[in-house]
Amino acid sequence: MAVNESLSALQVMQDAPVIPVIVLTDTRHAVPMARALVAGGIRMLEITLRTPQALACMELIAQEVPEAVVGAGTVRSAADAQAAAMAGARFAVSPGYTHAVGHACHDLHLPLLPSVASASEIMMAHDAGFSALKFFPAMQAGGAAMLKAWYGPFGDVRFCPTGGVTPGNAPDLLALPNVACVGGSWLVPGDALTQGDWARIERLAREATQLAR
Ligand code: 3PG
Repeated sequence: MAVNESLSALQVMQDAPVIPVIVLTDTRHAVPMARALVAGGIRMLEITLRTPQALACMELIAQEVPEAVVGAGTVRSAADAQAAAMAGARFAVSPGYTHAVGHACHDLHLPLLPSVASASEIMMAHDAGFSALKFFPAMQAGGAAMLKAWYGPFGDVRFCPTGGVTPGNAPDLLALPNVACVGGSWLVPGDALTQGDWARIERLAREATQLAR
């Protein structure tokens, strides 16, 4: 898939074994960090809307790192989705699912990965047309055992478990038939950002691409 093609939520999940969950507090970090992740083989980048700098960081990456596909994480409202789209986000990730966020992303043509943590939430998101879902917070809410249990009634749903995922437990999750990828913050450690250690981020990305699915 070329990065300028229209994108589905499933394609976002299938591009690499890991979607990095990124917290940026300094706009100067955005471009070199994105270049390091792309150099390591990771181009779907979830920039969380948790800091005042997040939207500006997204804009910079969208403008200056065309090989990356910038997405917005922590999308909690329709207004968040609109702001993310304006900043150049090509996909959205929500820590839960609401119809307001679902409708906003639909209207904005922004692929959405909503998060679920229960059977009823899966049914609500699936009813609204979403079948590529995050499982959040994955390890806190049941981990691999929960995903195995869901595979029976929800065999057509694909998950990206996120929350407490590490290089140590990722292989067990990625081996499951209903897991398309995992999400995690370990690819972009805060100290690597403050130290400008782009080589470390590139190495963490490269190691993540080598996780078997
Ligand atoms: C988050 O909410 O920050 C993400 O789920 C990532 O969690 P992690 O730090 O446990 O990978």
